[in-house]
Amino acid sequence: MSCDPYALALDGVLKLTPYQPGKPVSELERELGLTTVVKLASNENPLGPSPLALAAMQKTLSGIGEYPDGNGFALKSALGERYGLDTDQITLGNGSNDVLELLARAFLKPGLKAVFSEHAFAVYPLATIATGAECKPVSALPADADMPMGHDLDAMAAAITDDVRLVFVANPNNPTGTWVEKEPLRRFLEKVPSHCIAVLDEAYTEYVEDGRFESPKALLQDFPNLIVTRTFSKAWGLAGLRVGYGLSSPAIADLLNRVRQPFNVNSVALAAAEAALADNDHLLQSRTVNEAGLVQWKAACDKLGLAYLPSLGNFLAINVQQDGQALFDVLLRKGVITRTVGVYGMPEWLRVSIGTAEQNDFAIKALQEALTTH
Ligand SMILES: Cc1ncc(COP(=O)(O)O)c(C=O)c1O
Repeated sequence: MSCDPYALALDGVLKLTPYQPGKPVSELERELGLTTVVKLASNENPLGPSPLALAAMQKTLSGIGEYPDGNGFALKSALGERYGLDTDQITLGNGSNDVLELLARAFLKPGLKAVFSEHAFAVYPLATIATGAECKPVSALPADADMPMGHDLDAMAAAITDDVRLVFVANPNNPTGTWVEKEPLRRFLEKVPSHCIAVLDEAYTEYVEDGRFESPKALLQDFPNLIVTRTFSKAWGLAGLRVGYGLSSPAIADLLNRVRQPFNVNSVALAAAEAALADNDHLLQSRTVNEAGLVQWKAACDKLGLAYLPSLGNFLAINVQQDGQALFDVLLRKGVITRTVGVYGMPEWLRVSIGTAEQNDFAIKALQEALTTH
C-alpha cells in the first residue's frame, strides 16, 4: 500500500512554510569547528533567568513524575497580583506563541481573515494560514515616516472588514523594533469593531520604561475585545522553558481554555516563571544591560555608516545595504549568529539581538571586518 500524506493534508497546512528559528550555537560549533560563538539571533536575555527561577526549577525536579497543575493556579495568582487582574482573565501558554495559536484556533476558519502589519512577527501568518483562514497584511509606514516601517494603525483599522476576526499589533514589533505610543494605540482600539479580537502582542514590553505604555488593566477595562499577550522568553530570560500568557476578559480566556492542551505548560516552567516574577531587580538589571547594548550597537552602526530602525526591544534591525543572507553567512564563519529578515520582506537587513557588552563587542568587530573584506 502506498500513501501520499500531502494529498490528504488540509489546504492551510500545505500552504505553510515552517518557521525558521535562529541557528543554535551548538550547530554552528559542530558545522564549522568554532570554539567561540556569539548568538545574537533569537532576542534572548544574555543574562539568562533570575537565580530565584533557577532554584525553583531545581526544587521542582523531584516531583517531575507527576503532571503539572493544569490550571497553573500559583503562576496565575502571581500574575493576577502583579497586574491587578483576576485569575480567570489569564491564559497560560507554552510560550506566548501558544496563546497566538490558541487565538487562531478559537476565532479563525476558512472564509475569515486576520489583519497584521507588513514586517510583523512571522507567527501571525503561520497561525492564520494553518486554520485555513486568510491573511490580510497591511503596508507598513514608509521608511521616511516618524516611525519608519512601523505599524500603520489607520490603514490597519480600515482593513478590518466584516470577515476579519483577529488583528495583531506587536508593541514593540519584531523584527523592526518599532512601537506605537499610548494615544494612537487607544485611538486604534476604539476603531476595532466588536466582531474582531485585537491581539496586543507585548513580548518585549518589559524592556520598555515604566509608564510609557498603558497597563493591560487600564486597556482591558475599556476594550472587551482585547487580549494582551506576554512572555517569559525575553526579559525574564526563560526562553528555553516555553511559558507565556494572555490577559483578557474572562470570556476570551474561557474560550482559549477550551482549545488548549490540558497540560500546556510544564511544571518546571510554571515554578520558574512564578519565582522569576519575584525578582524585579533581575528584570531591571536586564533592562539596563539592554539599554547599554542598544547604545553600543547604535554607535557602532553610526561609525560604520549603517542605518537602523528605532527600537524599544532587545534587538536592532540594521540596514546592511547588501544581500543580508550573504553578510549573515560571512558573520557565521566569524562565529557570530545574527538573523536574516528576508522572510519579513527585508532582504537587505539583519536583525541583531542585544548581548552583553563583550558579546556585542565581538559581534561588532566581526561586522566591521565583514564589511571591509566582503
Ligand atoms: C513579537 C513576538 N511575539 C511573540 C513571540 C513568541 O515568543 P514565545 O513563544 O517565546 O513567548 C516572539 C518571539 O520571538 C516575538 O518576537
